[in-house]
Amino acid sequence: MGGLSPGGLALLLVSALLAGGCTELAPHAGPITLVLKHARILGPADPFPGLLREFEAAHPGVRVRSESLPWSSDEQHQFYVVNLEGQSPGFDVMMLDVIWVPEFARAGWLLDLTDRVRPQEFAAYFPSTVAAATWSGRVWAFPWNMNVGLLYYRRDLLAKHGFQPPVTWAALADQVRRIRAAEGDPTLEGYLWQGKQYEGMIVNVLEALWAHGTGLLGDDGTVFPEPERAAAALGFLRRLIATGVSPSWTTAADEELSRRAFGDGHAIFLRNWPYVLNLLEAPGSRVRGRVGLAPLPGGVGGVGAGSTGGSHLGIARGTAHPDLALALVRFLTGERAERAMAAGAALYPTRTALYHDPALVAGNPWLPRIHDLMLAGRPRPVTPSYLLLSTTLQPELSAVLVGLKSERRAIIDARRRLDYFLASNR
Ligand code: GLC
Repeated sequence: MGGLSPGGLALLLVSALLAGGCTELAPHAGPITLVLKHARILGPADPFPGLLREFEAAHPGVRVRSESLPWSSDEQHQFYVVNLEGQSPGFDVMMLDVIWVPEFARAGWLLDLTDRVRPQEFAAYFPSTVAAATWSGRVWAFPWNMNVGLLYYRRDLLAKHGFQPPVTWAALADQVRRIRAAEGDPTLEGYLWQGKQYEGMIVNVLEALWAHGTGLLGDDGTVFPEPERAAAALGFLRRLIATGVSPSWTTAADEELSRRAFGDGHAIFLRNWPYVLNLLEAPGSRVRGRVGLAPLPGGVGGVGAGSTGGSHLGIARGTAHPDLALALVRFLTGERAERAMAAGAALYPTRTALYHDPALVAGNPWLPRIHDLMLAGRPRPVTPSYLLLSTTLQPELSAVLVGLKSERRAIIDARRRLDYFLASNR
């Protein structure tokens, strides 16, 4: 048992028994490997490897192999669907975009954690993250990091031209025009956001719908329940591009592309998630100390609100090591690990108390404000058919943003396709 401590051996025995096979533990059995799938971790200093080694040290005989997923949420989803359809997915713990939990739970891909969660264990997390971990009255995952859509602005430029962060979209467009005219810099863009055909675009469209006082799904499940308002929201997004408030490459922009352009000092406003703040404020960043953040504007029939996002950690139902996998999930979503991730990895905690933690706030004075914006965030529709909804809408909405289809036509087409899809997917 090369180098395995007595504690490690005990653990191996326990987990072999729990996995249902007392005969499984042959004398030559090697260490147990837990495979953890996760998105790439961005941030000034990645504490992840250190955290995993810490978990291993506390669990002798257990190794954690972390494997990163492709960049976009859509590609990650595809990876999971392909691998989870089979019997043994090849991983134990998986990072899940918040929007997938109902779908994965219904498909039978996640271990049901309801009876394993301790009373009060979830009290420390944002209630919205707990809601997103729950489906059909059962618990399927632990909240790991929290996101909300924010408006970043160049504090120096707004101050120089005598502006406050805009509260309405009209004010934002006006500030863009005036600042650009006064600066006379043809490389300075106005407002950057995510308009590429992928999940991130759907998030931006939802936020535009909310700012226009409507949503994507009505209470009865109707798609675009108020088509006039939806058309206004889509027309608004299209006009941002058509009038040059946003650059033409917005229709190819994801979070990172838009973050880099803003970080290079080439734009006045940016819609993005909180992780961006840490990168913009990192040593060597061209906009360090010159960035502010605010809620997304509203004022076009509705109140501005950022979409919530983030990720959970779930356990593959086919895992051979459910207890160890749960121990890893608990460790990574625990206070210590979330604190380390918040400090170094730009992953914002799901544990609310950390946003007022003096040591963390000393390193990131925006934390209390981000906490309040997280609380004010709105979720995307919660349904096992969410991905179907999103991927069906994506080409229609993209066609509007690039100017190939009128917003009214796209709404009619999207409704026709989705009424059919959702009806056959209930
Ligand atoms: C972020 C969010 C996630 C969202 C994705 C869209 O990763 O955390 O919830 O789906 O962006 O691009």
